Amino acid sequence: MREMMKKTVLLKVLAAAVLSSSYLAAHAGNIALGREVANQACVACHGADGVKVLDPSYPMLAGQYDDFLARALTDYKSGNRKNAIMTGIASTLSKEDIANLAAYYSSLPGPMTFIRR
Ligand code: HEC
Repeated sequence: MREMMKKTVLLKVLAAAVLSSSYLAAHAGNIALGREVANQACVACHGADGVKVLDPSYPMLAGQYDDFLARALTDYKSGNRKNAIMTGIASTLSKEDIANLAAYYSSLPGPMTFIRR
């Protein structure tokens, strides 16, 4: 009986691990697809490398946390975060675009990379 309970617990733990890893896989952004969108819609202001921004008041995105970037874009899109420029841009992005862009910019080396590691 005890043995059986142990097996049940083990199975539940395994099931949870499998579920959470497939959740991550489904939500992880695609860097190459993110780069494509970025090269069309973001480079003008955030720089081709995510560092050399058009104006010092424009944030660097390279090396920023993936989830921070995704959160910022989602908030611009929903109106939780307001900015005259970014609200319009984020409104055109799909959930997938946002995940891909976040993966792309967080993968680029930048000043914030050193702080993160
Ligand atoms: C016309 C210029 C312009 C373009 C094009 C542009 N941005 Fe922005 N972006 C800005 C400015 C200005 C801010 C700062 C807004 C604020 O203060 O909230 C900003 C802020 C952001 C932030 C928040 C960063 C932080 O540190 O809080 C993210 C993320 C972002 N942009 C991503 C993108 C992505 C991805 C694209 C392309 C799809 C893009 N931006 C296109 C000008 C631009």
